[in-house]
Amino acid sequence: MIVLGIHMGHDSSAAIVKDGEILADVQEERFNRVKHSADAPIQAIEYCLEVAGLKNINEVDYISYSWLNTSQKMKALLGFEQEDSNTLKDKLFSQGKKLLGRSAETLVPPIYFPDFKLKDKSKFVNNEHHLMHAASAYYTRDNNEKCLIFTCDGAGDNVSLAVWQGEGNTITALEKFDGYTAGIGWAYSIVTEGLGWIHGDGEGKTMGLAPYGDPEKCKGVLDKYFPKFDGKNLVKKSEFGLATHWMQRGSNQFHFEEAYEVAELVEKYGREHIAAEAQRKMEECLITYIKGWCKETGIKKTAAAGGVFLNVKLNQRLWEQKEDALDEYHVYPNPADCGLAVGAALNEYYKHNTFTGKKIEHLYLGPEYKNEDIEKLLKIRKLKYHYSEEPWKHAAKLLSENKIIAWFQGRMESGPRALGNRSIVMSPIHPDNKNTINAYVKFREGFRPFCPSLLHEKADEYLSNYKEELFMITSYTANEKNKNSIPAVVHADGTLRPQMVKKDLNNRYWNLINEFGNISGKYIVLNTSFNVMGEPIINNPMEAIRCFYNSGIDALFLENYMICKDESLAPA
Ligand SMILES: [Fe+2]
Repeated sequence: MIVLGIHMGHDSSAAIVKDGEILADVQEERFNRVKHSADAPIQAIEYCLEVAGLKNINEVDYISYSWLNTSQKMKALLGFEQEDSNTLKDKLFSQGKKLLGRSAETLVPPIYFPDFKLKDKSKFVNNEHHLMHAASAYYTRDNNEKCLIFTCDGAGDNVSLAVWQGEGNTITALEKFDGYTAGIGWAYSIVTEGLGWIHGDGEGKTMGLAPYGDPEKCKGVLDKYFPKFDGKNLVKKSEFGLATHWMQRGSNQFHFEEAYEVAELVEKYGREHIAAEAQRKMEECLITYIKGWCKETGIKKTAAAGGVFLNVKLNQRLWEQKEDALDEYHVYPNPADCGLAVGAALNEYYKHNTFTGKKIEHLYLGPEYKNEDIEKLLKIRKLKYHYSEEPWKHAAKLLSENKIIAWFQGRMESGPRALGNRSIVMSPIHPDNKNTINAYVKFREGFRPFCPSLLHEKADEYLSNYKEELFMITSYTANEKNKNSIPAVVHADGTLRPQMVKKDLNNRYWNLINEFGNISGKYIVLNTSFNVMGEPIINNPMEAIRCFYNSGIDALFLENYMICKDESLAPA
């Protein structure tokens, strides 16, 4: 059975599942190069069909969609009949159609789009947005035992927070709130906007700034935006005005008036203290609510997805509740809307097949490029290059000389984290390296942390009170003994957001870290995504070369090829 999952909206994406295996999952932004793109994911769909060996969309068994309603645009793409709609966006389409003298039934996609017309309309399934978040978390667990699934985001299908029960093959809704009742994600986004960053993108900056502040300096000033829970019971609603619709970077910008209010608080109390208070409130809401549900139901196995669970500090705090509340806490490692395509595909697949547990082990689900194509490209670019059977050996030597390298290997990662296939890598040993990467490559705000990749078997040396973490989705406290020896990857609050690298899951990246460890004694590297700030992660070798020459990266490793700006860095 082959199921194609499609999400169109903030972070449009497509994924394909065959016989229970996720064969491919990719965001449209990686192809059209617009971060968080909400375009129709046509290139992502084409890629998924290609990976599954299909020539036509009609060869799939089901198409599972991430929304309850199908937009006019998606209907046109799939060749569906289009009834009149009352949404503003669809009215604009209708006006266009009237001007052209066409009837509502004949809106067609641009002529240069691929043909995705579906002959058997019954193959297309609409789904509730938050249920697809829940499915991404539940169907990537290692077991099918009874668990509580928590989903929390800005809003989707008029829900912003929900709790579900998963058991065996089924996921059942237990409680749902809209964004005006329990808008935890919206409240955090309002603060992010008040700090001057874009909703749906800048929340990670708020989280990165928070450890520099002290919530006690402004405790309570953000209370009205957040809901309040007593155990699992809501005792106070969120307080906002109506949302404003202003499309920016694939996302509707909400609650401008409240964002201006927050900007005044920022002026009064200081940026870092407001960020710290937002983080405190968000954690307080979700920890109280989740623990409340665990206590009331006696179910201690939990899973989570939705954009709010990108917050690695929240995930750490929840994991730390394991003593008295949570036995199991599984976050889908691509939890924001870009993970909905996988959720949708798995949800439909397990309507027809038995789920017994299938742990997700990697996110290397995007395009890959062959050595011969890379060599061809390097020749066309008239670049001097070097070939090696074991590129990690020279790369590790350069890392030990404190050079910045770009590491492009295998299939591109899905989700927002580079996990060693589209990564910029540097030594974590020198305290200045965070500033060096920022000054020469990433051009990010100085307060944002950089994160490490380390050998799975060496986790004990660098972390304390941790569990296996393959995806950089949870932070942990750094091991006291060794934290001062890797200052470039330890955040202001003494935490790390690690990726533990297993040899059987990424042999080349494991080799790179291992070689670096053999030279330096540290089996850990600084790993940041291969892109500059504001751009999607690199997909293909051409973009890699462009980014290499548009930044201060010293050497670029493209599969078995290597190029450098200073030939003294070339292998002997
Ligand atoms: Fe969502």
